[in-house]
Amino acid sequence: MKQKKIIPAVRTENITYAVRDIVVLANQVAKTGKQMLYLNIGDPNLFDFQPPTHLVKATYEAMIKNFNGYAPSSGIQEARDAIEREAERKGIINVHDIFVTTGASEAIDICLTALVNDGENVLTPTPGYPLYTAIASKLSMMENPYYLNEENGWLPDIDDIKSKINNKTKAIILINPNNPTGSLYTTENLQQIIDLALEHDLVIFADEIYDKLLFDGKNHISIASMNKDVSCITFGGLSKNYMVPGFRIGWGIVSGRKEILEDYMEAINKILRARLSANHPEQFGIKISLEGDQSHLAIANEKLTKRRNMTVEMLNSIDGISCVKPEGAFYAFPQIHGIESDAHFVAELIKETGVVIVPGSGFGQVPGTNHFRVVFLPNEQILEKAYKAIGSFLKNYKEKHSEKVDFK
Ligand SMILES: Cc1ncc(COP(=O)(O)O)c(C=O)c1O
Repeated sequence: MKQKKIIPAVRTENITYAVRDIVVLANQVAKTGKQMLYLNIGDPNLFDFQPPTHLVKATYEAMIKNFNGYAPSSGIQEARDAIEREAERKGIINVHDIFVTTGASEAIDICLTALVNDGENVLTPTPGYPLYTAIASKLSMMENPYYLNEENGWLPDIDDIKSKINNKTKAIILINPNNPTGSLYTTENLQQIIDLALEHDLVIFADEIYDKLLFDGKNHISIASMNKDVSCITFGGLSKNYMVPGFRIGWGIVSGRKEILEDYMEAINKILRARLSANHPEQFGIKISLEGDQSHLAIANEKLTKRRNMTVEMLNSIDGISCVKPEGAFYAFPQIHGIESDAHFVAELIKETGVVIVPGSGFGQVPGTNHFRVVFLPNEQILEKAYKAIGSFLKNYKEKHSEKVDFK
């Protein structure tokens, strides 16, 4: 019998996830026997970073005690209480709801799903984390990208945000510390965003998944701590700060004015109930992680600071590359000057040198500019090799493509 091809939904057409998409090419190149240098995936466990042992033990013990059934939809009480105390430490006091999810990713997905109708829009950072674009496609939500300003340390461009708010704008997304730029936002910048959110009734989605990975003694400021009236959902989790991305444990913290948020919170909870619960035994690792020994962070931040310094110095010394210094997370987003397409550059680089980075176009960027994202989790030897290879490759690449390239 002749069967018709199964046609996927139109909403999947624009879904790309550059970070993983590039792996397809990298795998093909690796098969040829070339030595690969992976600077593309933000998973600390692939490198010399480990979670605190007490977190793993607490999860194991929960499994042995047979907490292997479904959890309550918003998460186990001990974890929710610990997250509430964590919110207090971050200065967020007017908390009305807390829910544990399958990674911060699920919290973000649920909170957008419960807020945005077809044709409404959400302000998303450009460059930004591709998950937001993928969810936007899924929800037939209009993305309303606003720029981060490279000349101003990659801070959100307030004038650009102002010019893009319209009567269908429901929320603004902030990633602080940022993926892919590594920037940390200032109080002044955050205050301007709060003012806009209050004026235009926007919900602030504060993605703070990297808030403990900070360099140079810098402090992280939670936007929700700066104003008790602004509607805010702060996203966090164990993936990055506690180095267990495979546990898939994250959360959302709802703060602001209860009477404004109550219907929205009920909508979020309907979805939370419908999807049953997040991973159960792993939730027993939340309290001990947030309240137990934090020494793994000092060790991680020291390593990352060295690797960040090396990244910035080596990349800035390459003719044709400029790199803003990251202040948190483990990413840098350097600009490549004088080439036509970062996607082409990166594909050729992977094939020729085995260095795997992600093209800037996968994160969004100002048209006419070209970037790439590096993850500086690998050790110094790997980073040094990779940056040297990028330097010599770029020189040859420009010579080879000089006729075709419109040099800026
Ligand atoms: C900015 C940002 N938000 C969210 C996530 C996903 O976090 P989780 O593992 O908790 O789903 C990531 C992962 O890389 C991220 O970079």
